[in-house]
Amino acid sequence: MNNLAVNYLLLNEPPCVKTGAFHPLSLCSRDVADLQAYKTPLGVVFNADCLKVLPRIEDASVDTIFADPPFNLDKQYGKKVNDNLSEKAYLVWSKAWLKECMRILKPGGSLFVYNLPKWNILLGAYLAGEGMLFRHWIAVNMKLSLPIQGRLYPSHYSLLYYTKGKPQTFRKIRTPIKVCRHCSKELKDYGGHRDAMNPKGVNLTDVWDDIPPVRHRKFKSEKRTENQLSTKLVNRVVQMSTHEGDIVLDPFGGSGTTFDVCERSNRYWIGIEKESCDAIVERLSTPHICPHEHDDFIEG
Ligand SMILES: C[S@@+](CC[C@H](N)C(=O)[O-])C[C@H]1O[C@@H](n2cnc3c(N)ncnc32)[C@H](O)[C@@H]1O
Repeated sequence: MNNLAVNYLLLNEPPCVKTGAFHPLSLCSRDVADLQAYKTPLGVVFNADCLKVLPRIEDASVDTIFADPPFNLDKQYGKKVNDNLSEKAYLVWSKAWLKECMRILKPGGSLFVYNLPKWNILLGAYLAGEGMLFRHWIAVNMKLSLPIQGRLYPSHYSLLYYTKGKPQTFRKIRTPIKVCRHCSKELKDYGGHRDAMNPKGVNLTDVWDDIPPVRHRKFKSEKRTENQLSTKLVNRVVQMSTHEGDIVLDPFGGSGTTFDVCERSNRYWIGIEKESCDAIVERLSTPHICPHEHDDFIEG
């Protein structure tokens, strides 16, 4: 194991020994068993359309759902996914899987949806209309997009955070006080209140500008080189909304970032991916894909 992976493990809860008494597969009906692509003692990923698997997961059974769906930008994920729907069809499809997610969440469970602001403003309104409790619109700063003629320069993705009623788990996160990369001097003076500040860091805000893009080879599979989120983002979501032993669902598995985070932090997980699951299997069965380093301090 390399230094980064060791660091990641040290910053997270230590792995615990699983008793084997529970497996999240037991929350799914038997008729999807043959769609399993890979299973670990903590989780299972199905190689199927999420709209086929989600209806087969028990009501009120999952603590947190993290969804990073295709953004309808005509990306090529493979032959089975059409990422170029009409706006109406994309919204109908999104509401169909969101409806299932709301049913599957436990009371007090958390739902995170990562998407373009254009879609999330509509999906957020839908969730609120269905009785979900708005918690935050988290702006995840991204610097990679290109300027668009006649528009502001887009520089954030939206991460919706809703709960099914009063949140069951919300763990406070602190991030380190920012210092200059070159001279290590603190960047802000905190209005003269620096001495009164918590040495463990400042309260996490709803603007996340510390999420790195997944660029370097060591962070990704050769079987999938794009459309992969940083473990730092997903780890923050998982840490904020769950405890060890809780259950996380991700209906759009991609390269398996969520499942990797869950494995390293002792959360049970259920995953779905419509295209090939090879990158997920590689990621979970070999140690050579590194997580991003993170410096969050988690309270409680
Ligand atoms: C933006 S990527 C997710 C990336 C993932 N968060 C990661 O970090 O690797 C969206 C994924 O959803 C998958 N997908 C698209 N439509 C799907 C569907 N109906 N059911 C399940 N997976 C689907 C795509 O193949 C793609 O891998």
